[in-house]
Amino acid sequence: MASFQLVGLLLASFLLQIAGSEQTVPTTHEGLSTTARVLPKHGFVANKCVFILATGHSGSTALMDALNQLPNYLIRGEQYAAIWNIYESYMNFNWTIADPLSQLKFNWSERPHATFKEVKDLYDKEAVTEKLPWFNEFNLDRIMAAARTYYAILYGYYGKGFVSGFKDSRYVCGESFESWRCAEVFNGFMTFLRKLCLDVKVVFNTRTSDSFESNTRLFHQMARFSVDEFSKNLKETHRLFNDYAKNNPDLAFHVFYEEMYDAQKNATLARNLLQFLKEDPSFPIRFTRMPASRS
Ligand SMILES: *[C@@H]1O[C@H](CO)[C@@H](O)[C@H](O)[C@H]1NC(C)=O
Ligand SMILES: *[C@@H]1O[C@H](CO)[C@@H](O)[C@H](O)[C@H]1NC(C)=O
Ligand SMILES: *[C@@H]1O[C@H](CO)[C@@H](O)[C@H](O)[C@H]1NC(C)=O
Repeated sequence: MASFQLVGLLLASFLLQIAGSEQTVPTTHEGLSTTARVLPKHGFVANKCVFILATGHSGSTALMDALNQLPNYLIRGEQYAAIWNIYESYMNFNWTIADPLSQLKFNWSERPHATFKEVKDLYDKEAVTEKLPWFNEFNLDRIMAAARTYYAILYGYYGKGFVSGFKDSRYVCGESFESWRCAEVFNGFMTFLRKLCLDVKVVFNTRTSDSFESNTRLFHQMARFSVDEFSKNLKETHRLFNDYAKNNPDLAFHVFYEEMYDAQKNATLARNLLQFLKEDPSFPIRFTRMPASRS
């Protein structure tokens, strides 16, 4: 279960920090503190991240490898739900801190910087009058810090100029996002992603058209859906991606499959994409799989 891993990794990162191991594991933020007290505020966090959310069979591997032609980029392919596991762990912890009645006795948001002594005193005061089956000063900010640390340890720890990321085709309606509440889960996931690193860029990647005819290869891959279900999920995914990119131009950019291979359009697309990512727009990238040799 992801929660156990999260605790383990948080502990590992914390131990690395108190060991003062900035040399062996370079950190990407300023003002690292060695005390647990400030850890939730800063933690160990990846600097710049690029996440590609794609519908299947829309050229996402070529898109990822176009960006991986930038020497400081390492965006990794299909993740077998690795990122989803981190997200789910965050959601599970949110439930763990929000649900138990014993936690409602204390409003931990009012005490973000409580010292150990303050917390222990609260415990001592209550524990003599009432059993506290679950007592913890966790709050959602701290859980987000743990999730950022988890990501940074797995993906983002090479240092300042390094850009990490993933591309995945599971973050669509009907896959990770349940069809019946796709917009809600999508928005929750996006809010999470944009907090995962100091500087987050999301690239959506789909076919230009959301029609069934333009996406038949994807349909055959998602064989468990009827044509109607498939079409509905696809339309909703396109709508969510389009709207999000339109409303958040600094955070999200939409790449259409057909433009990547259109000789009239793809040079401009490459420039616009690099500009969006705040990289040198003249850097030569091509929408192809990674060149085999780069001597
Ligand atoms: C955390 O849980 C509370 C209570 O169930 C809920 O209202 C809130 O939306 C959740 N937050 C996130 C980020 O899921
Ligand atoms: C807990 O404290 C926060 C911060 O002061 C406040 O915004 C929130 O409304 C409080 N929650 C409850 C349930 O009192
Ligand atoms: C644009 O498309 C043409 C034709 O497919 C291809 O030869 C060229 O390398 C592409 N350019 C980029 C920037 O990918």
